[in-house]
Amino acid sequence: MSDHSKILTQRQFGTHAAGYVASPVHAGGYSLTRLVEMLDPQPGWRVLDLATGGGHTALALAPRVVQTVAGDLTHPMLVAARAHLAANGAGGVLFVRLDAEDLPFGPACFDAVTCRIAAHHFPGVARFVGEAARVVKPGGLVAVIDQLSPGDPKAARFVNVFERLRDPSHVWAYNEAEWKGFFAGAGLAVTHYEAFDTHHDLIPWAERMGCDAPAITRLRAMLVHAPPPVAAWMKPNLPPAGDASFVIRQFLLVGRKA
Ligand SMILES: C[S@@+](CC[C@H](N)C(=O)[O-])C[C@H]1O[C@@H](n2cnc3c(N)ncnc32)[C@H](O)[C@@H]1O
Repeated sequence: MSDHSKILTQRQFGTHAAGYVASPVHAGGYSLTRLVEMLDPQPGWRVLDLATGGGHTALALAPRVVQTVAGDLTHPMLVAARAHLAANGAGGVLFVRLDAEDLPFGPACFDAVTCRIAAHHFPGVARFVGEAARVVKPGGLVAVIDQLSPGDPKAARFVNVFERLRDPSHVWAYNEAEWKGFFAGAGLAVTHYEAFDTHHDLIPWAERMGCDAPAITRLRAMLVHAPPPVAAWMKPNLPPAGDASFVIRQFLLVGRKA
């Protein structure tokens, strides 16, 4: 866990853990409902939720399965997630500090592995997908939700720079073809793919990661000056008065291990 980005991740999320438990974007919405729907967890399953953050995905899965393991790199995040799940009466959940790229589990011990809105923090996404595929049983499912980048490399760079200005622990968000390549490389056959827009108000989105007023001004300026392919992707709404808003495109990718 020595990569610089992993130190940054723990600093960022360690400082802002409470904000992620409270975040409406993470607490629900289409992506969480759809993840549960497409996974269709069964009562006898053991499920691993990687980069559990405030524990919202683990909380959605726990009542449906026999055991949920919630893992995260950031210790204060796990403490916050444990309190969040306890307050909501979720039982049968184990909390484990781990690196999603190097899992402390033997092969084929889970029926499903989930990872929602986190992989853009991982420096080694192929390693993470390989590890998820290793610990899932044959016939088991790996389901990832994350930010999506446009296929155009210049637009992808702009979107990733915008994200990193808000959160220095953002490493990279990949495009559809790249994600499908990661799954294929890990021996996961895609059973479902979809992309969808999520809508964000700039100020609460930026403040959740501790941005100050000058940083928010720079983010707004990037939205104002976004080149046309980026503007088509991020759909900025820039009223003369009041907060700006924009779209982060996300995907849900589900794959089955042979
Ligand atoms: C936005 S939060 C995740 C939200 C959560 N999955 C949900 O559904 O609400 C991102 C989380 O990824 C975790 N994370 C980042 N890099 C990680 C890694 N290499 N291994 C495990 N967790 C990691 C962070 O500590 C943080 O808690």
